[in-house]
Amino acid sequence: MARLIPTLAGDVHVLPRDAAFAELARRLNAQVSARPVSVGLSGGSTPKAFYAWARAQSALSFETLLRTDWHVSDERCVPLRSDDSNFGHAARGLLDPLGVPALRRHPWPTEFTPAVAAEAYDDAWTRRSPRRAFDLCVLGLGDDSHIASLWPGCPLIGAPGLPRFAATEWPGRGWRLTITEAGLAQCGAIVVLVNGKSKAAALRAVCEGDLAPATHPGQVLRAWSAKVTWLADEEAAALL
Ligand code: 6PG
Repeated sequence: MARLIPTLAGDVHVLPRDAAFAELARRLNAQVSARPVSVGLSGGSTPKAFYAWARAQSALSFETLLRTDWHVSDERCVPLRSDDSNFGHAARGLLDPLGVPALRRHPWPTEFTPAVAAEAYDDAWTRRSPRRAFDLCVLGLGDDSHIASLWPGCPLIGAPGLPRFAATEWPGRGWRLTITEAGLAQCGAIVVLVNGKSKAAALRAVCEGDLAPATHPGQVLRAWSAKVTWLADEEAAALL
């Protein structure tokens, strides 16, 4: 049974990684209804493991696969075929093997320059869904406390009047496309997957540390803690 730790950034459910994957799959299946729903998957290594697990377990229902609009909450400015592409990994790891049609796939238009790609993606998504970003936004947590591509010191953090999706140049990691605080505010629910002891200090800083979102970007989630669920293994939650 998962332990529950209430924190300033939302409830942390402490459970093994596969149980976290099962909970994420349950939420993905549960949100599907008569209308299409939207999901922003995450990048990084954890989602790749989730894709393999979900395929092996046949964890996503037929309806989920066909009635979900699949996105990624942040992206690298590379072609889909690149091994750095977050949507490329979602496609190769999950959407292709499970037959998700092109109609339900919404990669960022990384063929454009970063600013144009971000504007085009935000415009297209705002036309389709003016008041909602993603029904369910999946995030990971970096060991430096970043979420999506909101990196420590990122000028998007705390900036007023931003669109829901924007471009940012991450020093040493290149241009990124990312959901912003304005986008996170318009998500229905947010699930953050955190595994491993390398994340323990970041999880404590984000969930319980002194407020310093420029240093610990994951703290921006405190503004919507009621809709944030952390799924963390024992090692990641060791310092809570
Ligand atoms: C990215 C991700 C990034 C990721 C974290 C955690 O594009 O790299 O969106 O924000 O979620 O770095 O990654 P892990 O799942 O590998 O711990």
